Amino acid sequence: MGTRDEVLVRCPTLNLNSPFIFICCQPGSEAILKEELARNYPRLRFAFSRPGFITFKDFEGSPLSPDFQLRSVFARSYGVSLGNVDASDPVPEIITAAEEISRSFENSLLRLHVWERSEFVPGEEPPGYISGVVARELESRLRIQAPQIFYPGLEAKVEELVLDVIVLETKEKPKVFLGFHRHQREHDPWPGGEIPVELPTSAPSRAFLKLEQAIRWGRLPLAAGDTAVELGSAPGGASYSLLLRGLEVWGIDPGAMSPVVWTDPRCEKRFHHVKKAFSDLNEKDLPSSAQWVVLDINGPARVSLPYVEQLLLRYKPELMGAVLTFKLNDPKHSRHIPEWITRLSELGLRQVRARQLPSNKREICVIGLTGRGILRLQSRS
Ligand SMILES: C[S@@+](CC[C@H](N)C(=O)[O-])C[C@H]1O[C@@H](n2cnc3c(N)ncnc32)[C@H](O)[C@@H]1O
Repeated sequence: MGTRDEVLVRCPTLNLNSPFIFICCQPGSEAILKEELARNYPRLRFAFSRPGFITFKDFEGSPLSPDFQLRSVFARSYGVSLGNVDASDPVPEIITAAEEISRSFENSLLRLHVWERSEFVPGEEPPGYISGVVARELESRLRIQAPQIFYPGLEAKVEELVLDVIVLETKEKPKVFLGFHRHQREHDPWPGGEIPVELPTSAPSRAFLKLEQAIRWGRLPLAAGDTAVELGSAPGGASYSLLLRGLEVWGIDPGAMSPVVWTDPRCEKRFHHVKKAFSDLNEKDLPSSAQWVVLDINGPARVSLPYVEQLLLRYKPELMGAVLTFKLNDPKHSRHIPEWITRLSELGLRQVRARQLPSNKREICVIGLTGRGILRLQSRS
């Protein structure tokens, strides 16, 4: 195991051959992430962590390539870890590092990602909490002083090299950490894996963010005119997102929906409330065909997965895909994620992927497309 000093060495003349990897995750998910990596990558040894930030070292000290792809549900972003920079004036050291990376990779331009380590589980921030001020200021200084090294804009394109600048501490003793990676499709293209979605003031709940982030992360090919069946729809954030995208939505939930799903003129009376628990449904309560199944009930997967199975089988002929939220009220349940994925694959979903999205609380998002959904996605790209 590396020592704190070994991992947080100042990034001196910068050795790009680092055996360390950094990973950002939701604060509180560090233990699950460690367990997941121990299963998937026994070569990696835990080295250092702060809430929302964790480093590992290859146990033989072999350098990690910026091309590596991490299979992880809980990593929001990751890369080769280069260590700390002098936070009293980080700009010169970061620019030196950027120049060296660029030179080492055929003078390619770098995509610049600067962000702050997440301190809170989403929705649990203290009143008045504002994040990102230090990162924004640092990013603008870097871009002004070295415009020739960085691509403009934030969204990384496949194969680009990304310079990761992570503000670990913003208060008393600021700490800035450097890493880099080569962007591939499986790695979220935004700084720190923060999928940029705004919560409209009219949205009934933060579940609007969860669904919008899932759609962007999974490149889900929804289309106006599709029908979605959402299990656990109240008060209506996710349904509202689907309605604004032009879908017909059937929400199953004994709880009350926000009136906005009927009163917002953009929703055009396309919402149907089945005000029942799933176990009380009758055959005629649901539409005969649907393209999308959405799940967000507050029960464990052992309860919700059988419901999803019934819906996936019922809608198999027309189905494009599913967007499922599985609660992890007990972190130990994360061990079952591979079984859930296998089960969903057996039910006809392909490319089933799981991720703890930035707006997920103690839960994860699982998405999958059917063959029909994949064809639609391909026809769009
Ligand atoms: C996290 S909330 C859903 C949030 C919602 N998706 C949104 O966008 O605002 C969980 C919901 O699951 C519902 N629920 C729990 N068990 C259910 C069941 N067996 N059948 C239908 N709904 C259920 C609850 O009534 C609750 O409204």
